Amino acid sequence: MENIEQLRIELISSVDKAENMSALEEIRISALGKKGRITGMMKTLGSLNKEERKEAGQTLNKLKNEVANAIDSRKNIFEETELDVRLATEKVDVTLPIRPESHGRIHPTSQTLDEIVAIFGQMGFDIAEGPDIEDDFHNFTALNIPQNHPARQMHDTFYIAGEDENKHLLRTHTSPVQIRSMIKQKPPIKIIAPGRTYRCDSDITHTPMFHQIEGLVIDKTSHMGHLKGCLLEFIKAYFEIDEVPIRFRPSFFPFTEPSAEMDIGCSRKGGELKIGAGEGWLEILGCGMVHPNVLASCGIDTDEYQGFAFGLGLERIAMLKYGIPDLRTFFETDLRWLKHYGFVPLDIPSMTRGLSMTGGTAR
Ligand code: DAH
Repeated sequence: MENIEQLRIELISSVDKAENMSALEEIRISALGKKGRITGMMKTLGSLNKEERKEAGQTLNKLKNEVANAIDSRKNIFEETELDVRLATEKVDVTLPIRPESHGRIHPTSQTLDEIVAIFGQMGFDIAEGPDIEDDFHNFTALNIPQNHPARQMHDTFYIAGEDENKHLLRTHTSPVQIRSMIKQKPPIKIIAPGRTYRCDSDITHTPMFHQIEGLVIDKTSHMGHLKGCLLEFIKAYFEIDEVPIRFRPSFFPFTEPSAEMDIGCSRKGGELKIGAGEGWLEILGCGMVHPNVLASCGIDTDEYQGFAFGLGLERIAMLKYGIPDLRTFFETDLRWLKHYGFVPLDIPSMTRGLSMTGGTAR
């Protein structure tokens, strides 16, 4: 048998000298691996007599533990130094001011969403979300659009192949989030639900994917007057003008009764569209009092609760505020377009500091 003390000194000193993880691993294999030196010595114990075996066994075990511990602590040192090096090289000075030459821009869809969230956030609305892939129940049936109802044809739905009775589809509007919120949460409810929506359609004002924002307020007392006040405040804040005429036209949506479409005043003098008092009107969103059938399908007592809902196209009102003529350009990922219509990253919309500090022009 090799001289154990000699071996101990040799192994410990080579562990101390190892310069990296792979050198350590080599030492471990050569000493403690299947064919390692310590393992080899242990295999020879059988040839010794009882007394000698006991003594040599204990010494070898001690050596084995000592070498394993030395390897572990050297490993820890490597890991710590590696982390220190990474921390030093990946350091970011968060106090540095933004570089004026930074070219990144915030997409108008994101900017508009942030603006709308800031406005409704200040009015006390929470944000709710639902899945892009919906089922027939949430997208239609629970919204009082039964099978074979003509209103289903109003939406050019992308269905997902499958035999399922409760068919899956790409949601055609954000209204199913109303259903999910009412099933999940007891009234009072006051939410907006922004998100992607999909319809099989494409022209200057339609794209197969676009964004909507849904609003829902359910409590014991909210009525059409509250709906009107809420939307008027929203429109004034969003377009950043003090006086905007609004009007409500009777309309039809299966999930609201009564239903209305809201128009805002505008002028088109000299071919330029301007929001505010003028000779024209512009349709901006759909809304109404939530239909009792919808409340009932979510298990809400219609004798006790009522409320209003509204839904609007995010890109549509971004186009109106920022003078973007073609909806399809939002999704063409053309950097020149983004540079022109995009927003400086740190201009985060806020109701106190200003919604769109650049006012949509000096970008
Ligand atoms: N979901 C409707 C659509 O996509 C928009 C809408 C209208 C939503 C009226 C509502 C509402 O919540 O009350 O055409």
